[in-house]
Amino acid sequence: MSSTVLVGTQWGDEGKGKICDLIAGDFDAVVRYQGGNNAGHTIVVGDRKYGLHQVPSGIMYPQCVSVIGNGCVVNPKVLLEEIDMFEADGISTANLKVSGNAHIIMPYHMDLDGASEARLGKNLIGTTKRGIGPCYMHKMERIGLRMQDLLDEKIFREKLETALSRVNPELELIYGLPTYTVDQICEEYLPYAERLRPYICESGLLLNDMIDEGKSILFEGAQATLLDIDHGTYPFVTSSNCTAGGAVTGSGVGMKNIDRVLGICKAYITRVGSGPMPTELSYESEEGHTLTEVGYEYGVTTGRRRRVGWLDGVIANYAARVNGLTDLAITKLDVLGSFDTIKVCVAYDCDGTRYTSVPEHQSVFHHAKPVYEEVPGWRCDISGVRRFEDLPAEARAYVELMEDLAHTRASFVSVGPDREQTINRFWK
Ligand code: IMP
Repeated sequence: MSSTVLVGTQWGDEGKGKICDLIAGDFDAVVRYQGGNNAGHTIVVGDRKYGLHQVPSGIMYPQCVSVIGNGCVVNPKVLLEEIDMFEADGISTANLKVSGNAHIIMPYHMDLDGASEARLGKNLIGTTKRGIGPCYMHKMERIGLRMQDLLDEKIFREKLETALSRVNPELELIYGLPTYTVDQICEEYLPYAERLRPYICESGLLLNDMIDEGKSILFEGAQATLLDIDHGTYPFVTSSNCTAGGAVTGSGVGMKNIDRVLGICKAYITRVGSGPMPTELSYESEEGHTLTEVGYEYGVTTGRRRRVGWLDGVIANYAARVNGLTDLAITKLDVLGSFDTIKVCVAYDCDGTRYTSVPEHQSVFHHAKPVYEEVPGWRCDISGVRRFEDLPAEARAYVELMEDLAHTRASFVSVGPDREQTINRFWK
């Protein structure tokens, strides 16, 4: 198996977890390269359901090394809770590794996330309030604490002192919130250090050694293309590079070692949080209600109801370009079985100009009106279909339309939540 980046092509929640879980067992390592416990997906094994936020999907496969890369931010408490959950169920975490360079989410990051959202009022971003943005902010400001700092109490205390001298006045004077002392945070965090010590390592070196031995790596993207700090709908984005390029900087593996980029694309589109979404349907509309309820579009991490809309082909095309997609995995095609006809956005009309790629200028994108093509639905349950040629002609035509819009072949088509409910067309 060649090393592969798996990336969301929309605003997240495309079903990355299912596809990642499906193929993870074919790789020697699975690496998370960005984000933290803002991500969330559920893996179902037999009658057990596991909600993963921090740990890579490879954990379900004993032979697979699971790596939390240097580009990630880590909440040690959440990580230990996940480790304990797996160990209690007999799933070994011996192959879990955490980069010493990954940044630590501190209690004040969560405070700042909530407070800055409250201050933005109606312009709020709609973050997961997990402290992700402030943690990356301090990384860039160079006052962050990293996993390796946990292993040396003296350094941890020194760096924390510097960070608090910068953070406490902000908490107190700008937001009117309680401040922190070094001792108070050390009391909570230093015990995490002892438990996490066996997992912390130089993960970039480990991965490169594996590549030298001919082993293959799956880079598991979290969030998605339009939530990317550079290529997404800024400022309504997350604070890391979710696109395929992030796999290189967030893991320490050079780009010559990556062969494929698999884009996960839901057959319609969803979004949580604020920001523009040209094909959005209101929950009150019949179509919006159907997509939400049949697709069960509620967040794993926050439980929030997702915004829903018809497939946006302009975004699919943009994601293919920005990530350099080699393959698509189309998910939740079965959900569209409820409609007589299905709309697909093939272009935007922005004040009389037609766009087939996401306009760079935010005001243009905010005014984008979808130009729809209406295609026939198949009006039946396809969740039992396992071969592409057994899909109704309308469903096959829909997949082919998605391939045309993204200029990328659909190697997988998913027709239900279970592993088996997947059509593998070209993936080897
Ligand atoms: P943050 O990542 O918590 O800072 O949130 C920034 C934006 O990204 C918000 O709109 C969140 O709803 C969105 N977001 C973060 N993580 C996910 C995810 O895993 N799926 C979908 N949206 C996400």
